[in-house]
Amino acid sequence: MKLLVTGGAGYVGSVCAAHLVDAGHDVTVLDDLSTGHKDAVPDGARFVEADLADAVDEVLADGFDGVLHFAAKSLVGESVQRPELYWNGNVVTSFRLLEAMRRHRTRRLVFSSTAATYGEPEQVPIREDAPTRPTNPYGASKLAIDHAIGSYAVAHGLAAVSLRYFNVAGAHGRFGERHTVETHLIPIVLQVASGTREAVQVYGEDWPTPDGTCVRDYIHVDDLADAHLLALEHAQPGRHAIYNLGSGSGFSVREVVEACRAVTGHPIPAVAAPRRAGDPAVLIASSEAAKAELGWRPSRTDLATIVGDAWEFTRSRTA
Ligand code: UFG
Repeated sequence: MKLLVTGGAGYVGSVCAAHLVDAGHDVTVLDDLSTGHKDAVPDGARFVEADLADAVDEVLADGFDGVLHFAAKSLVGESVQRPELYWNGNVVTSFRLLEAMRRHRTRRLVFSSTAATYGEPEQVPIREDAPTRPTNPYGASKLAIDHAIGSYAVAHGLAAVSLRYFNVAGAHGRFGERHTVETHLIPIVLQVASGTREAVQVYGEDWPTPDGTCVRDYIHVDDLADAHLLALEHAQPGRHAIYNLGSGSGFSVREVVEACRAVTGHPIPAVAAPRRAGDPAVLIASSEAAKAELGWRPSRTDLATIVGDAWEFTRSRTA
C-alpha cells in the first residue's frame, strides 16, 4: 500500500514506519521535527519535513491508500498546564487530516489513541467498553479525535482503527525512545544506569497496590507495530474499530526498577517522592479484542526483554 505516516520521526511512529518499509509498503513520513528526529526516519521511506496542518492536503493530493496518524503532543503534565497546545496540536490538526483524507479519497486510517482516554478505571483489566472519562486535556484531546473519526467512518465510509496504547517501551534496533524532556519511567531509569541521571524518583509508595507503587502494563514497541500492520489490513469501510493494546500484565514501579537493575547490573538508586498528580494506581489493558479480531499475538511481553531492548538502544546512544 502507499501510506502516509504522520509523526514518523518520533518514537512509535519511526518504529512503525520501519516495520511498514520492511513489509514492502511504499512509505512517506510527514513530520515537523518538533519532537522527532530526522535520523529516525527509516531508510526506504520518503521524508517530508512540514507542519501537518499546513502540508497534509498537498501531500495527500498525490494519492494514498491510507494514513497512520502518530503526530501528536503527548505529555500529560504539559497538557494540564497548556491545554491550548493539545486542542490545537491534536484536535485541530487531526481535523485537517480527516478533511484532506475526505477530499482526496484516502480510505484507511490507523490512529494512535491512548489509555488516557479512560481516565481512572473502575475495573482492570480495562476493556474497550469501559467508560471514557479522561482526567487531563491530553486524554480528552485523543478522545475527541476518536469521536471525530467514528463520525467520519459512518458518514463518509472511512475504514478506521484507533489503537489505545498502554505503556509503550522497548526499542527496535536503532529506533527507540529519545525525548528532549523525558517523563517516562523506563528511559528515566536507564538514564540512571547509563550515568546521565543520579537517581530515579518513585512517585508514591502508598498506592493501594501490592508493593505500594503504581502498576502499569508495558507493551513492547515491536508488538505495538505488529498491531498497526494488522489494523491496516483489517480496517473496514464505514467502521471505526477501537482496540486496547497492552501485554496484559501489570508491573509496579519497583518491579521495573528491579528489572532494570538485573538487565544493566547497575545499582540504580531509587528515592521516594510524592505522588504525581493525575496518576491512576493501576492501569492494565484487556487486549482480548485485538487478539480475537486482528489476530494480534504479542510476543515480547516479558519485562526483561522490553527493558533489555531499551537498554541496548540507550547504550548505543551514549556509547
Ligand atoms: N514514575 C515514577 N518516576 C518517574 C517516572 C514515572 O515513579 O520518574 C511512575 C509514574 O508515576 C507511573 C509509572 O512510573 O506510575 C509510569 O509512568 P510513565 O510516565 O512512564 O507512564 P504513564 O503511565 O504516566 O503514561 C502512560 C503514557 C501516557 C498515557 C498514560 C495513561 O505514556 O501517554 O500512560 O495514563 F497518557
